[in-house]
Amino acid sequence: MFSLSRQLRREEKVIGLVPTMGALHEGHLSLIKKARQMCDVVIVSIFVNPAQFNERSDFENYPRDLTADTSILANLHVDYVFAPAPDEIYPENFSTYVTVDDLSIKLEGASRPGHFRGVSTVVTILFNTVRPDFGFFGQKDAQQVAIIQRLTRDLGFETEIVVMPIVREENGLAMSSRNDLLTPEQRSAAAVMHQSLEEGRGLAESGESNASEIAEIVRGTIEKEPQAAIDYVAVVDNETLEPIDRLSGSVALVAVAVRFGNVRLIDNIVLGDSD
Ligand code: PAF
Repeated sequence: MFSLSRQLRREEKVIGLVPTMGALHEGHLSLIKKARQMCDVVIVSIFVNPAQFNERSDFENYPRDLTADTSILANLHVDYVFAPAPDEIYPENFSTYVTVDDLSIKLEGASRPGHFRGVSTVVTILFNTVRPDFGFFGQKDAQQVAIIQRLTRDLGFETEIVVMPIVREENGLAMSSRNDLLTPEQRSAAAVMHQSLEEGRGLAESGESNASEIAEIVRGTIEKEPQAAIDYVAVVDNETLEPIDRLSGSVALVAVAVRFGNVRLIDNIVLGDSD
């Protein structure tokens, strides 16, 4: 990958990297299609990153199907699939980690200690290896996006981060590789996350600017679903992830994390962003 990337840069090709952990779904496809439009060469990495899992069982149960993934990628005219072995990313005695302080301990970070250190570290390694002009990420992982944008700026990467909107199933559930771990009943119950966020949006659009009122309606809607157990409902600044009191003046991220049985899902909407 080092020599390929060096060669591509010598040829002045615009390189797009779509980092994934495989188990590709429509959400990934929208990133890849965007990369295909913007770049001369599209590279998709597939690496189930052990460093970002808190629980061994979660890592082991993470869906993996490289054959199915590569055939999807061939149909999308992806140029290269980078699927390194774990010891290529983490050689023996690996001991250098990247932590984006502060942003990493909030929201998801509170429930998943070390998760974002794993994400930041692997994304840094991928960016250093592939040296892409553009890196493509999904808005579904809004905190991951904020962290990667911050690390790209702080560490001086030339890579520009492109964020694509959430792609949803027919019932509104945000596409995620974890959705396959839900029972059919849980899958339909999980639509409540999107419904609740849309209710929050409706309230904001009707003029409510008090963040706790927005959070309250979101929470109340989710609580009506007996299969849902709320981890958090948060209204925060989209960039700093600091809680906000009022919507006016900042772009607000309304983020939720909810468990359905053993499966923990996240979803979000952004309010006050004209783009
Ligand atoms: O979003 C993901 O799939 C992962 O967190 C990423 C960015 C590929 C890093 O492992």
